[in-house]
Amino acid sequence: MTQFNISMELPARPTLFDFHGVSMTKHFTDNWENTQNFKARPDDILIATYPKSGTTWVCYMLNLLYFGNMSPERQKSVTLNERVPFLELCAPPRPKGKDLADQLPTSPRLIKTHLPVQFVPKSFWEQRCRIVYVAHNSKDTVVSYYHFGRMNSLHPELGDWSTFLQDFMEGKMVFGSWYKHVNSWWEKKQTYSKLHYMFYEDLTEDSGREIDRLCSFLGLFPSAEEKEKVRAAVMFDNMKQNKMVNGSTVQIMNHDVSPFMRKGKVADWKNHFTVSQNERFDEDYKQKMKNPTLHFRTEV
Ligand code: A3P
Repeated sequence: MTQFNISMELPARPTLFDFHGVSMTKHFTDNWENTQNFKARPDDILIATYPKSGTTWVCYMLNLLYFGNMSPERQKSVTLNERVPFLELCAPPRPKGKDLADQLPTSPRLIKTHLPVQFVPKSFWEQRCRIVYVAHNSKDTVVSYYHFGRMNSLHPELGDWSTFLQDFMEGKMVFGSWYKHVNSWWEKKQTYSKLHYMFYEDLTEDSGREIDRLCSFLGLFPSAEEKEKVRAAVMFDNMKQNKMVNGSTVQIMNHDVSPFMRKGKVADWKNHFTVSQNERFDEDYKQKMKNPTLHFRTEV
């Protein structure tokens, strides 16, 4: 059914190392040269996020907006990971993300990345590709990342919650510092007009409005009925039931530890942060997030 449905022993968890100033693991750097040489086409669409920011949600939304009507069979039989390849992923025996992206039969090609902006292959900029960036508030991101790290064997060993929180604040995460990621992509948006910067919290507030904004950015004109179909399909409960998008076919994930489609709620951080962790986090946040034009609703 899916190229990711590979039965095998779980690999040993990878180690985190410094890669040109960003914490990474081998699963996202082993195919580096090839990934960097990826030949983007002008109509490719890159969905870029820091991990745990609503990537799957927006990938599925875009996939349905472009191809939902055209191929209902594909929606039922091909996983989202294959329809929207993860560009830098290199975790044998799974196919490399770059190869899947090269071979995508669709046009436009939808491609996912967690790369910090400075690592994006240059052909995306040269071809002036459209890019959709999704940002998720820091506190909910770290909570989501913690549970994801527990259930995903491609993630390095992680300590307890308070150690993980400290590591997050220090940028010792796969794909590096959340603070640098969201800030540098925000800066890029100021000079690169084909970048649509979205917020997870806006999506939860009004997904219909965000679909409209996406369509106007992408130059799509779906009917009201088509948009409503997409809005309904991407609702959390519907995605959670959908085997093609809920990660249940991915063998490296143990959903008994924590489901991939976990809660899908804003402000779950309140169930995890102690009062003192919250105070320390806020103090540190103020130091790192000084751009007055970039606002997250962290206090929700
Ligand atoms: P939680 O762990 O807080 O539940 P990513 O796809 O980047 O890995 O992001 C995962 C986070 O997005 C998870 O957050 C997941 O539940 C949430 N998510 C995925 N689909 C969603 C949806 N349709 N509505 C709300 N949240 C969603």
